Amino acid sequence: MPQQSILLTGGAGYIGSHTFVALREAGLEPVILDNFANSHPAVLDRLHKLTGKPPLLEKGDVLDTPWVESVLKRHAPAGVVHFAGLKAVGESVAQPLRYYRQNVAGALSLAEAIQNASNGTPPALVFSSTATVYGDPDNVPVREDAPLRPSSPYAQTKLDVENMLLAAQVAQPAWRVGILRYFNPVGAHPSGLIGEDPSGIPNNLMPFVSQVAVGLRPHLSVFGNDYPTRDGTGVRDYIHVQDLALGHVAALKALLGGNQGFTLNLGSGRGSSVLEIVDAFGKACGKPVPYQVVARRPGDVAEYYADPSKANEVLGWQTRLGIEEMCADSWRWQSRNPRGYAG
Ligand code: NAD
Ligand code: UD1
Repeated sequence: MPQQSILLTGGAGYIGSHTFVALREAGLEPVILDNFANSHPAVLDRLHKLTGKPPLLEKGDVLDTPWVESVLKRHAPAGVVHFAGLKAVGESVAQPLRYYRQNVAGALSLAEAIQNASNGTPPALVFSSTATVYGDPDNVPVREDAPLRPSSPYAQTKLDVENMLLAAQVAQPAWRVGILRYFNPVGAHPSGLIGEDPSGIPNNLMPFVSQVAVGLRPHLSVFGNDYPTRDGTGVRDYIHVQDLALGHVAALKALLGGNQGFTLNLGSGRGSSVLEIVDAFGKACGKPVPYQVVARRPGDVAEYYADPSKANEVLGWQTRLGIEEMCADSWRWQSRNPRGYAG
């Protein structure tokens, strides 16, 4: 039987590249659609090394609807995962129109291309959403039916796309839509060949800690130690990108197996504080990670972590890797590629 093809918009990026490997290992044939706006073509060689054959690539912009339609007709994918988009909260406050263009118009372009290209049976569609749609939650762990309070243009664009896809599904029941709300993806493939390669100063904790450990930055600034948490620092649900990649495989398999759609949290269900991550990273790299406590970062919440039980029920999926593996794999990637894919 020919392998089922899966189109990955943004497949050259951090989460997309790990999902690419997991899909090939699961016997599916992923095709990357990417314009390399936030990724490096060197990832393609790494994916070749990891999977034993060159990746299939469609280079271009998801906003180019007629071209995306031609890509869909060429590959006739059984499924599409829509990773492509912008993801920095602070940047979205400064450049909201760019975020609406890339995230909302980008998803609209893809959805229209799917509608135009498919005669009656659209591919299963998985969308990368975020736990940020919950804003500052009233209760932890956070369930999928918690109030939705997007507090940045980024979060709002993700919620807008969720609603757009659900409306399309109501209008056309042949659509199967899986919405995945990721908590905090970190870590890297255990080979050290692929990982997160942020451009400029990292916004997020784990890439910053990795760059301090490898000597690119002098110390970590811990944003506040006076939160009402066990050690005063912010608590988050870190999820290993390898577990996240397997969550996408499980979501696609469910939709291809007849499931009509779902909205699911992908997280571990456990919270870790900033100082717990700093400590675990120190153990992984064999030396303490220097840090200084500074003021809180505006917009940060004290604590949130997922209730991932619905993903377990619907997909039979749960995380397997803890913060030790997350730190060890981040360190392997960072120490072997101190400046990311560029060298
Ligand atoms: P990433 O930036 O590494 O990957 C996104 C990829 O999309 C990049 O390769 C980029 O070149 C590509 N891209 C961007 N705009 C494009 C366009 N117009 N046309 C074609 N390709 C385009 O990001 P990531 O961390 O892998 O995140 C993937 C998705 O997951 C994003 O939608 C993000 O919002 C969502 N998400 C990420 C996180 C996180 O912490 N990384 C958390 C929650 C949700
Ligand atoms: C941020 C985004 C969120 C996004 C997530 C991706 C904000 C407000 N939210 O969430 O939308 O989905 O990244 O993983 O930007 N920290 C430090 N020092 C640092 C960096 C972070 O102390 O240099 C702390 C933060 O205060 C927080 C924790 O580390 O307590 C995690 O921060 P980060 O990795 O940025 O993730 P989030 O804040 O959860």
